[in-house]
Amino acid sequence: MRNVLVTGATGFLGQEVSLRLMRMGYRVVGLTREIKDNLIAVPLQGDLLRDDPFVGPELEYDAVIHCAGHHPGETDEVETLHVEGTRRIVAETKRRGITRFIYISAIGAGFHAPTRFQRSKWVAEQVVVNSGLEYTILRPHLMFGHGSRTFQRLEEAANRPWAVLPESKPLIQPIYVGDVAEIALRSLWLDRTVGQIYDLGGPQSLKLEDVVRHMARDIHLFRILTLRIPRRYAYYVLEKIGRVGPILSGEEWEFLQHEVIRQDSRWLIDYGILPHSLAIYYSPLA
Ligand SMILES: NC(=O)c1ccc[n+]([C@@H]2O[C@H](COP(=O)([O-])OP(=O)(O)OC[C@H]3O[C@@H](n4cnc5c(N)ncnc54)[C@H](OP(=O)(O)O)[C@@H]3O)[C@@H](O)[C@H]2O)c1
Repeated sequence: MRNVLVTGATGFLGQEVSLRLMRMGYRVVGLTREIKDNLIAVPLQGDLLRDDPFVGPELEYDAVIHCAGHHPGETDEVETLHVEGTRRIVAETKRRGITRFIYISAIGAGFHAPTRFQRSKWVAEQVVVNSGLEYTILRPHLMFGHGSRTFQRLEEAANRPWAVLPESKPLIQPIYVGDVAEIALRSLWLDRTVGQIYDLGGPQSLKLEDVVRHMARDIHLFRILTLRIPRRYAYYVLEKIGRVGPILSGEEWEFLQHEVIRQDSRWLIDYGILPHSLAIYYSPLA
């Protein structure tokens, strides 16, 4: 297997996936709406929300890794890219005779999920599951690593003398972007992952304040004030006062509250990966 098409190749995860594929000797073609400096793959220009043909090399591809997507609360049009964009790339995949398809969904994707983000991911998953393609669906929790916009905001908060945060249960299982990229990559040759859906979370289950505390440069001076907002009101309070601190939007907050009841350990076995903890990225020694 040699040629792989990556959507969202200019993004946080897509760049990491492209880089790792290239290091393994794959030829990577990256779909983007506009060719930018942060695209390290061979460009394929196109917009998943338009019917215009994609412009770029006409290669025979062996697989598609579909990373293009939004973040919770980023836009009011979250369904369009997730659902219509996934329909478009699935149709394009079939038109080109490609059979292997890896989709990056999100933790908590579900018909009854609390956020539009997760509900639209679930609909997109159904498009993939019913496509007839050999699919693998990955559902990461919040990803950390160089280039994460959410973690940049949390880092800014951690480097002030104090932060105000909504109180959370220890539910956040941040996962290293490199681990998710590695899992997407290994799916290409691990046949047992075909037809599987994996929930991906890191090894730690943390409260939001502990995530932020982890990043503080001076832990002795840093103070966190947590606001006890009942869960059912937290979304509305955060939406009304905007971003607290400026840290999280209401939709991001709801997304992070997804309870990973037990670590879905199938992927640890199927991929043979031991996920990294936050400490590899945010530690006094890093
Ligand atoms: N980051 C997280 O913590 C997290 C957690 C769970 C799930 N996810 C999911 O993981 C995937 C990757 O996330 P990320 O953080 O890497 O996202 P990101 O950095 O925001 O990148 C989004 C990508 O989507 C592409 N895109 C947006 N609209 C497009 C369109 N109309 N047509 C074609 N491409 C379009 C962008 O490409 P151009 O601008 O170059 O066109 C960009 O490369 C997403 O599906 C996201 O929902 C992320």
